[in-house]
Amino acid sequence: MKGVVLAGGTGSRLRPLTNIINKHLLPVGDLPMIQYAIEKLSKAGIQDVLLITGKQSAGLYLEYLGGGDKFGVRLTYKLQEKAGGIAEALALADAFIQPGEKFVVLLGDNLFEDSLVPMIDTFKNQLEGAMVILKEVADPRRYGVACMKDGIIQRIDEKPEHPTSQYAVTGIYLFDSAVFDIMKTQTPSNRGELEITDVNNVYAAAGKLSHGFFSGWWIDAGTHESLFQATLFLRKEDS
Ligand code: G1P
Repeated sequence: MKGVVLAGGTGSRLRPLTNIINKHLLPVGDLPMIQYAIEKLSKAGIQDVLLITGKQSAGLYLEYLGGGDKFGVRLTYKLQEKAGGIAEALALADAFIQPGEKFVVLLGDNLFEDSLVPMIDTFKNQLEGAMVILKEVADPRRYGVACMKDGIIQRIDEKPEHPTSQYAVTGIYLFDSAVFDIMKTQTPSNRGELEITDVNNVYAAAGKLSHGFFSGWWIDAGTHESLFQATLFLRKEDS
């Protein structure tokens, strides 16, 4: 299976740090944020990785990650010319994924404790469709939230004011190659972005969206507070 890491975006919630450097190169614990995603994939046996990022700091990614050998992966880079949402960035992976191939997507600012191996193994046995990873959180309103019935995701609500569950949809997604056709039918949301949640909802409506759970810690390190929290978790893991 191949892996795609999305590392573009404007990082607006991390200004002014992101005025000078792309969010996914900011230090978390002892390392630049991007390294965690690459190593999670590498440790799960994913060798072919596409990194999608914007123009900001593009040279620094090359300088730090190079061809990926040091991290046990073969890296391919793709430039996202303008920030337009997660689904828009993901559409750039079309040529990297062969028809009929399954793949795993990581949002580069999602840091987590669990191994990806169980999810990948489960998804390999899933005939078609997509899979998301859920994490129970105290305040789900910041995230996509899974609306569940009889243990099945009925739909995902993006940053709902009144969440129907405590289950946040993390930025770890597994897709079949049909995702590229789904994305072609999408229109921008209220925040002007092509939303990954809309993509997942197409799978959910077709009864093709499965899910797994994270049992360890998970953080979307997109804000100053959560970036700080992530460092604390990683430090604890090391000690
Ligand atoms: C995105 C997704 C959201 C998901 C989150 C996880 O939100 O839209 O569904 O829960 O990533 O990190 P964003 O961070 O782009 O606001």
